[in-house]
Amino acid sequence: MAIDAAHPVPPQFPRVAGRDNIPGHVPAELVRSVGIATGPEFLAAPHEYMAGLHAKMPPVFYDVSDYGNAWHLIKHEDALFMLRHPEIFTNEGATPFPRDPDDYFYFIPIEIDPPHHRKYRAILDPVFSPKAVLALEGKIRALCNDLIDEFIDRGECEFTTEFGRPLPVSVFLDLMGLPQDKRDTFVKWAVDLLHSQNRETMAEAMQLISSYLKEVIAEKTDSPDDRVISRIVHATVDDRPMSPPEIFGFVIFLFIGGLDTVFATLNNIWQWLGQNPARCREIIAEPDNINSQVEELLRVYSVTFSGRMLAQDHVMRGVAMKKGERITAVLPACNYDPDVFPDPTTVDFHRARKPILAFAGGVHSCMGAHLARLEVKVALQEWLRRIPEFALKPDTRIEYRPGGVVGPEQVPLTW
Ligand code: HEM
Repeated sequence: MAIDAAHPVPPQFPRVAGRDNIPGHVPAELVRSVGIATGPEFLAAPHEYMAGLHAKMPPVFYDVSDYGNAWHLIKHEDALFMLRHPEIFTNEGATPFPRDPDDYFYFIPIEIDPPHHRKYRAILDPVFSPKAVLALEGKIRALCNDLIDEFIDRGECEFTTEFGRPLPVSVFLDLMGLPQDKRDTFVKWAVDLLHSQNRETMAEAMQLISSYLKEVIAEKTDSPDDRVISRIVHATVDDRPMSPPEIFGFVIFLFIGGLDTVFATLNNIWQWLGQNPARCREIIAEPDNINSQVEELLRVYSVTFSGRMLAQDHVMRGVAMKKGERITAVLPACNYDPDVFPDPTTVDFHRARKPILAFAGGVHSCMGAHLARLEVKVALQEWLRRIPEFALKPDTRIEYRPGGVVGPEQVPLTW
């Protein structure tokens, strides 16, 4: 049954976690415990680990962990099938972020299935269209340069804190219609919420973000502007104004979906560039190939996953899955599927174009994909124009944090 986003109700799904909770119909030979996003092998080198799954795992397997059991898909074709069939794989209850059951809201649009999903997407699609996003290019370029000005003469920087984080936060504030002087506060909130791995710190950050966003929503209700929060506040669905939980669930999901993913992507790419000076020279030497360069880097360093729940029983590659079970498309692994991307771990800027899954696919494909591509492109162009030669600081050990968005903690660079 479709959820009613205007009147949200916390979903009541039984928690299925650990070896004692494997359903009887799951074949024993398909049970694995790969520790995606949390295990030590994964955290040692996440992208290599996910690329290696194709040699070690069946294409569809049942992953068991203390965080929750779920079917895992690693083939590009299977992930696309899942993403394109919301009638079989629902988004209801598929998002992992906890909420207060007494003040519940859905994350919009990610938790809404078709046909209702389209009404919400329609509100912001014009803001995130390729044409609309292109209008931000000049601002993004200026921002990149302002950030680089701060550290270029020092001959070194800690990329994640000095560029990787402030860039998407500033772009986001501008888009949302929030004041730029809140940048450092937003960076802190985002880091506490998404990276602290400490439940108290996360809850406190969520509280601060929520009360701030609620204040802003009230302000924009009285004084509309042409930015995203105001558009959401004043939008109508089914010829009625949106309810407070719909407005809040939409605004806060943009915060969750639009910041961490871009940080992590930039950080992954720059740690690779810092170890591959010849590839930086190649990017610089072929300026007209920038879009393919960005696409290939997004393929190799994709950062997140798509989770769904089975809305009905389904058989995939002969494997029977049951209604109510969880399923995850391991998108970075799918981007290394050798049947689609030959020699998948090689970064090849002249690779034949195939759809990458960094931004998923189907109805929930990333709303910010054009913006994210533009941010990566402009960041590459401006950085390499001003700092063409740089390296990861000697003796740096790149550490990855556990969690649903894969990226290094710190990327110290020198030039
Ligand atoms: C490199 C950066 C980014 C990556 C890798 C990324 C990745 C993704 C993925 C994989 C999904 C689909 C999740 C699923 O199927 O369950 C998604 C959805 C979404 N993303 Fe992004 N994202 C990025 C940047 C952004 C930005 C900048 C924004 C907005 C400012 C954004 C807003 C959204 C929204 C609103 C959705 C939900 C779409 C829907 O449910 O229809 N993302 N993103």
